[in-house]
Amino acid sequence: MKKLSIINGPNLNLLGKREPAIYGSLSFTEFLEEIKEKYPNIKIDYFQSNIEGEIINKLHEVGFSYDGIILNAAAYTHTSVGIGDAVKAIETPVVEVHISNTFNREEFRHQSFISPNAKGVILGFGLQSYELAIQSFI
Ligand code: DQA
Repeated sequence: MKKLSIINGPNLNLLGKREPAIYGSLSFTEFLEEIKEKYPNIKIDYFQSNIEGEIINKLHEVGFSYDGIILNAAAYTHTSVGIGDAVKAIETPVVEVHISNTFNREEFRHQSFISPNAKGVILGFGLQSYELAIQSFI
């Protein structure tokens, strides 16, 4: 059975409540239930943290044994050299995802410290971005 890890960064615990016009009205837990039912033959773990170092620790923890990582580092995407370095340091391929199309938003969201070391980037498809990332590992 393939093992995938979904890692979400800061403020994504508020999905469903946070700026629904941009991020939708479904909570991530609700979405995850649907996804797990849809892909019963894949082990899908989920981790969310608002703390940069915890995201780095999680990448180290899963990054040598899992088949794929789906990372939405949220605001840290645009600021964190540490998370970018962690993505480079691990062996498991990382697909960077974003719910919104960061390129039609503010200029500071156009920069990513994750992309140079990611296997691929999927953005702008709402929560479906995560499902497309899962499919990329099948
Ligand atoms: C985001 C985009 C980021 O710019 C933002 O800081 C987020 C969410 C997205 O999924 O669209 O928190 O990563």
